[in-house]
Amino acid sequence: MSEAPTPRVALIGCGRWGRNIARVLAGLGALELIVDPMADALSDYASELGVRVTSDMTQAFADEIDAVAIAAPAVDHGRLAKLALEAGKPVYVEKPLALDLSEASEVAALAAEKGLPLMIGHLLQYHPAFVTLKQMVDQGAIGEVRHITSHRLNPGAIRTEENALWSMGPHDFSMTLGLAGEEPISVATLPVRVVNPNIPDQYFVQLRFPSGITAQVVASWLSPYKEHKLTVLGTEGALVFEDTAAERDRKLVIYRDYVDTSEATPRFAKGPGEPVNWPAEEPLENEMLAFLDAVRGGDGCRTGPEEAIPVLRLLHAAEAAAEA
Ligand SMILES: NC(=O)c1ccc[n+]([C@@H]2O[C@H](COP(=O)([O-])OP(=O)(O)OC[C@H]3O[C@@H](n4cnc5c(N)ncnc54)[C@H](O)[C@@H]3O)[C@@H](O)[C@H]2O)c1
Repeated sequence: MSEAPTPRVALIGCGRWGRNIARVLAGLGALELIVDPMADALSDYASELGVRVTSDMTQAFADEIDAVAIAAPAVDHGRLAKLALEAGKPVYVEKPLALDLSEASEVAALAAEKGLPLMIGHLLQYHPAFVTLKQMVDQGAIGEVRHITSHRLNPGAIRTEENALWSMGPHDFSMTLGLAGEEPISVATLPVRVVNPNIPDQYFVQLRFPSGITAQVVASWLSPYKEHKLTVLGTEGALVFEDTAAERDRKLVIYRDYVDTSEATPRFAKGPGEPVNWPAEEPLENEMLAFLDAVRGGDGCRTGPEEAIPVLRLLHAAEAAAEA
């Protein structure tokens, strides 16, 4: 990472999630300003963090600001990212990059034209347990990947402005595409509607990749329990990243040689799996450090438009398949 001075960041949008970003950026000495239409309601929080707060967007584009982070509602992401890039600021934008693909491509093209970093908030790409899992998969720790299952069951926020897939699926699609290393050739979706007849509460998305890898993503805000669990099945073992596991040493587990082929009939070899060690780092802090690094010209960003646009394409494909 670069040793240049800490960039001064303006955060646009400081609601439930934006507050976390504000806290982390302030902790890194990088938060200069919060911009939010609810500036008055945020004055106590801003003074707690020792930063200015305003509802005047133009202040985010002032000369003394080096970069902009956006955590406003998804519908505004593309527009705000374009404004910030036009003003010459490197941009971090929460997922999704934009709601529609053409707007996402416009934002990406603008960043490329201006030569400015554009980073999308696919947080789990900075989670040290997922980073460790991906390194192990890439090093062949479980042989060839055959199947990926990603569950994001989050009882709670039943939203009306977006469905469960758009709310939670980006993280699972980002991890799944990252592991598969390619985009799927077929997408099938089963939507489940319980609360609202028009907005699905749960999605089962099944994917088939050119290499033969298959995957299933389940996103739900209606599960009676919380489960964030990624399982990668390979020819020589399996890796499980369960962020919701109660004990830290069960959050990342490897099952080696779980199929016993020593006899004529293959047999499942039962076992508790071995805990895998992973660095004790906060995912959001890693993500913000990667952004600050990108602002200083470093290569810490793993979630630029080339990573995020396939995720967006998959969100659209999965939603279209749900309507089919
Ligand atoms: N990476 C993650 O794990 C994660 C988790 C939760 C939410 N998010 C994302 O963060 C974003 C915000 O989600 P949230 O739950 O904090 O929403 P929220 O509704 O709680 O907060 C949105 C904030 O943006 C402000 N706002 C609205 N319009 C604005 C505008 N034009 N300019 C500036 N500010 C504006 C609102 O006043 C509010 O304070 C969403 O895109 C969501 O997908 C990401």
